[in-house]
Amino acid sequence: MERLAFGGDYNPEQWPEEVWREDVALMREAGVNLVSVGIFSWARLEPREGSLDFGWLDRVIELLHAGGIRVGLGTPTVVPPAWFYRAHPEALPVSREGQRWAFGSRGAICHSSPAYQEAAARITRALGERYGDHPALAMWHVHNEYGVPVLECYCETSAAHFRSWLAERYGALKALNDAWGTAFWGQAYGDWEEIQPPRATPTACNPAQRLDFARFAGDSALANYRRERELLHELSPGVPVTTNFMVSPRQCDTIDYWRWGQEVDIVANDHYTMAEDDRNHIGLAMAADLSRSVGGGRPWLLLEHATSAVNWQPRGIAKAPGEMARNSLAHVARGSEGAMFFQWRASRAGAEKFHSAMLPHAGTDSRIWREVVELGAYVEALAPVRGTRTAADAAIVFDWQSWWAQRLEWRPSQDLDTRERAEAYYAALFDRHVTVDFVPPDAERERLAGYPLLVVPALYLTTAAAGANLRRYVADGGTLLVSYFSGIVDEHDAVHPGPHPGALREVLGLVVEEFQPLRSGQRVRLQAPMGAPPRPSGPGGGSPLTGDVWAETLVTAGAEPVWTYADGPAAGGPAITRHRHGDGTAWYVSSRLSAEDLDPVLAAASADAGIAPREDLPRDVEVVRREGESGSFVFVINHTGAEAKVPLARPGTELLTAERADGRLAVPSGAVRVVRLD
Ligand code: GLA
Repeated sequence: MERLAFGGDYNPEQWPEEVWREDVALMREAGVNLVSVGIFSWARLEPREGSLDFGWLDRVIELLHAGGIRVGLGTPTVVPPAWFYRAHPEALPVSREGQRWAFGSRGAICHSSPAYQEAAARITRALGERYGDHPALAMWHVHNEYGVPVLECYCETSAAHFRSWLAERYGALKALNDAWGTAFWGQAYGDWEEIQPPRATPTACNPAQRLDFARFAGDSALANYRRERELLHELSPGVPVTTNFMVSPRQCDTIDYWRWGQEVDIVANDHYTMAEDDRNHIGLAMAADLSRSVGGGRPWLLLEHATSAVNWQPRGIAKAPGEMARNSLAHVARGSEGAMFFQWRASRAGAEKFHSAMLPHAGTDSRIWREVVELGAYVEALAPVRGTRTAADAAIVFDWQSWWAQRLEWRPSQDLDTRERAEAYYAALFDRHVTVDFVPPDAERERLAGYPLLVVPALYLTTAAAGANLRRYVADGGTLLVSYFSGIVDEHDAVHPGPHPGALREVLGLVVEEFQPLRSGQRVRLQAPMGAPPRPSGPGGGSPLTGDVWAETLVTAGAEPVWTYADGPAAGGPAITRHRHGDGTAWYVSSRLSAEDLDPVLAAASADAGIAPREDLPRDVEVVRREGESGSFVFVINHTGAEAKVPLARPGTELLTAERADGRLAVPSGAVRVVRLD
């Protein structure tokens, strides 16, 4: 692509051919230069087993090509045709409770099914052979959102596959019995054939078994993705292959995107704002930062978002005027090489007909269409940012496997919630105008060294190696801030030896003698003692912090208490601590604070990290930088109802209005501005 990408999912098979010409003409009017085609077209491409019909797709691609529109060509392997399921009902996945899902929707796939794997490879090969070197082809879009709506399958084929996966992982049964702690409740296995997937059990199921099954399910899907990718690399050399992720923890929770990010030629992400969340731009920013991070900071592509209503949410709330552009350009600010939508033209039939589109049911005489055309021009004007990278100020450690482990049954409190903590810390950093990268707990030393501040919102599962990694980061001079119930278990969900938090005890300079989960609705107050960092101005300035859900009896071993519990089960004891370790500092927060109450804690840790506060920037005015060979770009997104004045490091040219910008940029309410600094 020579510009940023602009376009969306295009499903011409839902429309008679005479509509296609109008589609292409309107796409050109809107500045569309890339569309995703054929994602759900298997039944149309192979109406009967072995009989292929490419005529219609040839014509669609030629029309697009003639219009100068590039194609992200789908492999339609997320919905095998009805004839396939009739011949292979065993390829429909089985739930944990033993129910086999039915055809009639999408994404009903047993990833261990040999019949599915073979049929998917056949259609992928046929597409690769036919279109692999087509000049309109910009990339391959494999499958659709692995992991959504279902990833795990508990059928007999999956069970056998799981056993061979385990045999490869553990080698010997003894190693598996040790890892799973099967001495507990008499679960020891004497033969591989005795092992089953963790199907519904009368009471709590072995957590290590469940965790391994979650890993296995991801690996099975990944193997299928790799099979398609390898075919396409062979048949279509030089054309990037990707699959659309859903990295937002609100939208997919079964895929370990740290693993998948390394498997795609370009990270592509789908994101839908949660319409009823007043500040849903924060969830959007978090998803965009995760998308960039799982690719290691590389530019990525927003492959789907919505122009307005999202049909699968409880209420299809329409976006307000300007909201779509703020959403789209916020993704671009955070590293996306364009803005793509689901979908081009609103469907007349099927489950998603009330989902918004670039071309709504109302047609071109509509607000949505006018905003789409305007956005197309903005995206075109932003061509110079292509290839630049978003500059982050700090990093958050997030780990999908730890999340899976933490949310299994019978944890010390049902209110512990990895996702909630990650979102709360992210929001608190967002409100401090700190741009965040995400990193895995085992990130390389050099990668971590680039961040003055590393925040660990919830890392229940922390391997010994990850613990050592975080310790070294601090010893090297970093500032680490860890939230409660982190560092507790190893990769098999077994508690680390010695007192909690085993993997992080040394770096934090303390011991958790006892967990003190709070009762539902119970609150505790955290008091800053004399001489501790004062609470900066802000809501409730000077008053104690309030925690809920969780408290701990802490015994310091080198750390100093900074806030102590004023009441509650750990009254008088340390609540938030600070530990000098090597050349750096490690903070620990032992209760659940709201994003607002986290602010003074982050302020104190940021001071250690040398991150200056941005009191010059109003709340909900997003300021993000992209930097690279083509220049330094400042994106300002004003989510507020008032004009914002944002200081610039130096003058520049605003790309959307082509106006000069001096030291202070005025951004109207609801608007976006992008300044290329001189
Ligand atoms: C997902 C899918 C699309 C569509 C949209 C609707 O992202 O990939 O096919 O269903 O959701 O929001």
